[in-house]
Amino acid sequence: MSLPKVFITRPLPKAVVERIAARCEVQVHPEDAPLTPTQWAEACPDIEGLMACGARVSKEVLAQAPRLRVVANVAVGYDNIDVAACTERRIVVTNTPDVLTEATADLSFALLMAAARRMVECDRYARQGHWHYWKWGYFWGADLYGKTLGVYGLGRIGKAVARRARGFSMRVLYYDIVRPTPELEQELGAQFVDRDTLLREADFLTLHVPLTPATQRLISARELAMLKPTAFLINAARGKVVDETALVEALQSQRIAGAGLDVFEHEPEIHPALLALPNVVMTPHVGSATSETRLAMASLAAENLLVALEGRRPPNPVNPEIFTEPGA
Ligand code: 8YV
Repeated sequence: MSLPKVFITRPLPKAVVERIAARCEVQVHPEDAPLTPTQWAEACPDIEGLMACGARVSKEVLAQAPRLRVVANVAVGYDNIDVAACTERRIVVTNTPDVLTEATADLSFALLMAAARRMVECDRYARQGHWHYWKWGYFWGADLYGKTLGVYGLGRIGKAVARRARGFSMRVLYYDIVRPTPELEQELGAQFVDRDTLLREADFLTLHVPLTPATQRLISARELAMLKPTAFLINAARGKVVDETALVEALQSQRIAGAGLDVFEHEPEIHPALLALPNVVMTPHVGSATSETRLAMASLAAENLLVALEGRRPPNPVNPEIFTEPGA
C-alpha cells in the first residue's frame, strides 16, 4: 500500500518532519518563505495532507489538490484557510490551540510594558550615543500598577494576559460575547463590562479576538475616540481587527497615548505613518515565536495531521461537523 503524500509549507523541525515521514511520503518546501503560485502548483497535484505554516490555503490552492483530505494549520488562528471550501469537500482542518497561549500572552504583555515604559525609544537613545548625562525629565512613561487593563476577548490568550495583569496589581475588565463562569472570573479577578465601558475605562486595551467577518475592523475611529487620551492599544491578535488608518490618526492627533503592535492590517506591509511614530512599539508577528512553543506547535500539527490521515478525529478539528454530519 502506498503512503499518503504530505506537503509541508515551511522547513519545520527535523524531528517533526521525521515523525511524519515514518508514515507518509513527505515533501518539505525548503525555504522559510511563502510559496509562489508555481510552487503551489508543483507541490499540490496528489497530496492527501498539507501542513500549512505561514501559508494561505485559498480556494485556488484547494482546487489544485483534488486528493487533499487534511489541512493541519501550524497556528491557532485559521483565517489563512478557506475553511468553508474545505468543509464542502470534507477536508479536515485543524489548528494548534493551547500550546502557544503563554508565549503569545507574554508577547502581548511585553508590548504593553514596552509601550508604557518607552523601551524602544530608550534603547535607541542609549545606542545612538545621546546619553551624556542623566535627566530628570526624559522618557517618562506610564505606570502599570493600579491601572485598568481592558481585555477584549477573554479566550485562552485573553485569560493568560489577565493572569499576568494580576501580578502587576492591575484592575482587569473584560468584554466577550461569551461570559465565563463566576468561578473563572473570580480566579482571574476580571470583571465583565459592556463594550463601551471597556473602551472608556481601559488604560491599556488589549485585543484577543480571532479574525472573523464580525471582528474585522472592530476597533475603528468610533472605538478609538472612546479611549482615554492616556490609553494604549495592544494588538497581538490579527491586524485586520483594527482600522490601521484610524489608528494612525488617533496616534498622530494624540487621541491615544501609544500602541504595541505585533500584527498589521496589511502585513507584512506597515502603514508608513506608523513607522514614523515614536510612541508605537512594533514586532513582526512573533507572538508564538519561542523555541519551546514553535516546537510544540509543529508537534501538535503533526499529531493532528497523522490522526486525521488515518481517518480518525484529530485532537483539534476546526470543522468538527465533518465527523458528526451524515456522510462522515
Ligand atoms: C503563527 C499565529 O505563527 O497561531 C497563530 O494564530 O498568529 C502565529 O502563532 C502565524 O499565524 C503563522 O502561522
